[in-house]
Amino acid sequence: MITVKNKVVIVTGAGQGIGRTYAKVLASDGAKVVVAEINETTGMQTLEAIKTSGGQAIFAPTDVTDFKSVQQMVTATLDAYERIDALVNNAAIYYGIDPKPFTQITEDEWDRMMNVNVKGAWNCARAVAPQLVKQGKGKIINVASSVAFEGKAMFMHYVASKGAIVSMSRAMARELAEMSGGGITVNALCPGAISGEASVKLGQAMRNVKGFEGKGGPVAGQIIKRRGTPEDLVGPLTYLISDASDFMTGSALTVDGGSSLH
Ligand SMILES: NC(=O)c1ccc[n+]([C@@H]2O[C@H](COP(=O)([O-])OP(=O)(O)OC[C@H]3O[C@@H](n4cnc5c(N)ncnc54)[C@H](O)[C@@H]3O)[C@@H](O)[C@H]2O)c1
Repeated sequence: MITVKNKVVIVTGAGQGIGRTYAKVLASDGAKVVVAEINETTGMQTLEAIKTSGGQAIFAPTDVTDFKSVQQMVTATLDAYERIDALVNNAAIYYGIDPKPFTQITEDEWDRMMNVNVKGAWNCARAVAPQLVKQGKGKIINVASSVAFEGKAMFMHYVASKGAIVSMSRAMARELAEMSGGGITVNALCPGAISGEASVKLGQAMRNVKGFEGKGGPVAGQIIKRRGTPEDLVGPLTYLISDASDFMTGSALTVDGGSSLH
């Protein structure tokens, strides 16, 4: 059955953008959601939206780069719901990326990107792993991006961080399967260009970098000639969280209108 009903699902970075859509739709489909977000204002807004529409959720203020903070979020999850069915490692630096040649990326920008996007996912995975192993079952979905396959220019630190997420998911899949008799699966979800505030801002910034946005924007490079939406990602995510994907692990599922098939 492709359902998330009654599943306890942690969504990091659920305060805005795609993460907020994941949290809201999963809750409306019957999941018990943990909104794990660094921004308390937006995190609370997501929680309120879920509660207003009758869903179940808690908000756990979380900085994914800080292992102690992540452990507190896991404790809050177990206090509230007593188990963890899935972790969606969605938090990342995407909003506000300043596109530029890789020779001009500063060390601070590089380190921050890796700290949030890569170390953050590792921190959350290692914090939930003992509980998943105890349960003998669980799902980790690491949000990568189709840019990892496209090798998109002008934000190489972000591209590299998402390539790391794909590789990390494979290694994590092997180790956690070994520890759980195959009960824990780990997959990467790789969205393409998705409509929303963050991608509009990046698109505008890219147009100022001569020759790199390409005629027609990201849609021109896709097989399906329309912008993806956060809702386009919810079905594949639901599948990866559900028991229907129990035999699928270490994979990278692209949901990008075909943009990475070049
Ligand atoms: N938007 C796209 O087109 C697109 C495409 C491919 C992949 N993605 C990926 O999808 C995910 C969501 O993208 P988005 O567009 O909603 O991004 P976004 O930048 O709008 O949202 C990211 C969220 O993560 C939170 N966050 C940042 N640092 C954090 C930290 N240290 N601890 C906890 N939370 C933190 C932010 O506050 C924000 O709520 C990201 O992993 C992104 O890389 C997005």
